[in-house]
This record gives sequence, structure tokens and C-alpha cells, in this order.
Amino acid sequence: MIIAVDGPAASGKGTIARRLATHYGLGYLDTGSLYRRVGMGMVLRGEDPADEKLAKQAALALSATELPDEQIRSEQAGAAASIVAANQAVRAALRAYQQGFASNPPGDVKGAVIDGRDIGTVICPGADAKLFVTASLETRAERRYLELLKREGAADYTQIEADLAARDERDANRSASPLIQAEDACLLDTTKLDIEAAVAEAKALVDACLAQR
Ligand code: CDP
Repeated sequence: MIIAVDGPAASGKGTIARRLATHYGLGYLDTGSLYRRVGMGMVLRGEDPADEKLAKQAALALSATELPDEQIRSEQAGAAASIVAANQAVRAALRAYQQGFASNPPGDVKGAVIDGRDIGTVICPGADAKLFVTASLETRAERRYLELLKREGAADYTQIEADLAARDERDANRSASPLIQAEDACLLDTTKLDIEAAVAEAKALVDACLAQR
């Protein structure tokens, strides 16, 4: 069983996907962390994430790149990720790993929940249930602001909102697997929902998809 969860940054998709995985007893893959590791690995080596050749090499060598969580979750890593993610060769290099996880998730589980930008459209177009999780830019910026404030003790709302808008623009307008809602995905707008309400709504949508199979 595969559940695809796509959507823009800070829409709540990561938390929702993790909670769905626990609820249905499935494995979980955060595909954004793969792009973050590629992008941040390059930044740390002093490389330019826009350098297509070096980015492809970094993606092909990804299994050798372990980075601490705080580095992967940083805003700098998110920005570098969205630059390498526009590179078709990087996406191709990461596709096999993601599809391998989908067909054979680690552990004694009967499927996986995978979150990202192109899971329902490119990685797992035949997923059993697809969610497209979104929220207004202001709400997403507010969430990211509170998250950073808690983690790093300081955060700049205006900067965060501008960074998210730039990332949305890059993700939606790139030619390689742009962020779009799959035709058969259910839309979940979390703008006015807290996390418990969003998770409850996500379960109801997934149950409805599964009942239709
Ligand atoms: O956590 P957040 O939603 O901010 O970002 P993320 O899901 O970790 O993804 C970081 C960046 O990686 C995104 O802005 C996308 O450009 C890229 N990405 C992608 O292109 N395809 C995916 N399946 C996952 C992430």
C-alpha cells in the first residue's frame, strides 16, 4: 500500500505523512531530506548548488553523505535543495532510491507513506491514496517562523516569507517534475486547521480513497 503526500514547504505534509505512517503501520520516507542532503552537502564543500555537473555527482554519491539533522533542516539546506531539485539529472539519480523504498520499504511493513513534491505525479503515479496538502503563504510562513524560533532561538518572519515564496516559485515553475496536484489527488488545505484536525482530515480522505479501490 502506497500513500503519496505532496505539497509546498511548511504545509504540514511532513507531520501528516509521519502520523499516517504510524496509523496505518507503514514505512515513511521524507524525500525532501534527500534533496536537502544533496544541496547542503554541496554548500558545505564550497560548491555551487546551481552547478549541474557537480550536483549530479553529489546526487549519485548521496549514500555516502550523512549530515546531522540540524544541518539538513536549516533554511539554507531548504534553499540549496530547491536549487538542486530543479536539475533533471539529480531527480533521475534520486528516483530509483525512492521507487525502491516504495516497492520494498525497510522493516516488517506492508507499504509506505512517501512525502515530497512529485510523489503522486512521477515517483508513485499508481499510489493507492494521494493527498495534496497546502496552506496559505502567510500561514506557512508563520509555522516555519515558530518552528525556527523554537529550534534556533531567533527568526526573521519577513525573510522566511520571502524565502518560502521564492521556493514555491522555483518548485512550481521548473520544467523537471514541477510541484502540481496530481489529477487524482485529494486536496487538503490546512490553513485553518491545527495539526490534530489536519491529521484527522487526512485519515478520512485516505480511508475514502482506500474504500474506492
Ligand atoms: O520541509 P519543506 O517542505 O520546507 O521542504 P522539503 O520537503 O524538505 O523539500 C526541500 C526542497 O526539496 C523543496 O523546496 C523542493 O524544491 C525539493 N523537493 C523536490 O523537488 N521533490 C521532492 N520530492 C522533495 C523535495
